[in-house]
Amino acid sequence: MTAVHRPSRPLVESIPQSDSRAANNLPTMKFSTAIGALFAITTSTAYGFAPASSPLATTRARSTNSSPAVDSAPHRHRPSFAHTLTAMSATTFNVGIVGATGAVGKEIVGCLEKRSFPVGNLRIFGSERSAGKEVDTKFGKVTVELFSEGSARECDVVFLAVDGDFSLKHAENICEGEEGAVVIDNSSAFRYKDGIPLCVPEINAETTKGKKLIANPNCTTAIGLMAVWPLHKLFGLKKMVMSTHVKIAILTNSIQQTYQAASGAGQPGMDELIDGTKSVLSGERDVAENKVFAHPLPFNVIPHIDKFQENGYTKEEMKVTWETRKICGLDDDFPVSCTAVRIPTSRAHSESIVALFDKPVDVAAARKALEEAPGVSLKDDPENLVYPMPLTATGQYDVEVGRLRKNIAFDNALEFFVCGDQLLRGAALNAVAVAEAMVENGALKAKVAA
Ligand SMILES: NC(=O)c1ccc[n+]([C@@H]2O[C@H](COP(=O)([O-])OP(=O)(O)OC[C@H]3O[C@@H](n4cnc5c(N)ncnc54)[C@H](OP(=O)(O)O)[C@@H]3O)[C@@H](O)[C@H]2O)c1
Repeated sequence: MTAVHRPSRPLVESIPQSDSRAANNLPTMKFSTAIGALFAITTSTAYGFAPASSPLATTRARSTNSSPAVDSAPHRHRPSFAHTLTAMSATTFNVGIVGATGAVGKEIVGCLEKRSFPVGNLRIFGSERSAGKEVDTKFGKVTVELFSEGSARECDVVFLAVDGDFSLKHAENICEGEEGAVVIDNSSAFRYKDGIPLCVPEINAETTKGKKLIANPNCTTAIGLMAVWPLHKLFGLKKMVMSTHVKIAILTNSIQQTYQAASGAGQPGMDELIDGTKSVLSGERDVAENKVFAHPLPFNVIPHIDKFQENGYTKEEMKVTWETRKICGLDDDFPVSCTAVRIPTSRAHSESIVALFDKPVDVAAARKALEEAPGVSLKDDPENLVYPMPLTATGQYDVEVGRLRKNIAFDNALEFFVCGDQLLRGAALNAVAVAEAMVENGALKAKVAA
């Protein structure tokens, strides 16, 4: 895993990073069933409300990991993270990861280890760049195998952490038929395709039932929705019950600004920020070199992530719009607007969100809902300088939410700031939590007892 990383996808953010073909596969889903779906989500035993004794409780558990926890917020009703997957540990699974030398893939290995996912056998697949190298894991030393669809199909579950074109080419072949593996894909290749769940387990875990190919959401969307969903439920429940065929979405509007770390562009993005910063600080260069990003990132901010669209938004910004609608079961014209800016931090994305609701908002009730929400850590004590920051969100499973206040420009609107580790909640942790949910609902089974 110490190999020099050669980027495996097109460089420069003006080129679609992972989705040149996937880009054409934009939302085709219709949300005519949104009312039923949202009703079902909200009234069923949603993931966040699984009993503490359930394996699902691990995902809503107060998270802990090797990074220092900086968390003063109470976490009522949440079991400790020490309560891991004991209920499912009787069965073990053959797990495959494609792209485990990359930024997301490395974190998937870490999440499997820390959450004690019942791994019987771990296989790591890569390109010829990393095939043959050895990776030390809690499950033993693993030699990276050259990827082939046949080998991946032998696994029970395969996490794809490569680019969208790779997923488009291979994902469906890996999961095809009885003998195929469950595939959890981190790219955007299948996110907008009808019939393929786009899953944040705390919100819509039940959509994975009976499925073999699951799309993991865009990192920004997953992080933001961890905060928006509990508020949506809080101010929406009454209206939803009363409404049957009109738009039941209680969140009427959402405006987001995101401040995204260099590692959103993978390991090469992180390397470019660090190397470029060193080159300027050492006096070697006045302005850093850039290959991954459209402009030098050190000592700069770049209001451009991914490809510009005809409507003036970037694809990264539109992903937040499209994916929020699909995950939350909202109308296909539901208004969500986002501006995404690349900033010179290494890890953890930040988001400023204004959410408008149908019902009058109550800050105290919103605060309580966020305190109790699974996967959320309320960091909202401005007098003591406590608020979300990438520095404190880095390495944490929970998404930090704070600066919660009534917005003074709009009626019934809340404004808040969210920070989350996009490599964890926005990718690896979410993917592993999806696998846990699929074990729970029977969609992921061991083909052969390991
Ligand atoms: N970075 C983020 O914050 C983030 C968040 C959410 C989702 N995602 C998505 O997650 C995926 C991975 O992103 P990343 O940031 O981890 O990228 P990355 O750091 O560039 O890693 C890419 C990985 O893909 C592997 N790979 C490339 N071509 C391959 C091939 N032909 N066969 C097998 N393996 C191959 C590479 O392995 P080799 O070294 O063996 O080539 C490498 O491990 C992308 O789809 C990205 O859009 C990223």
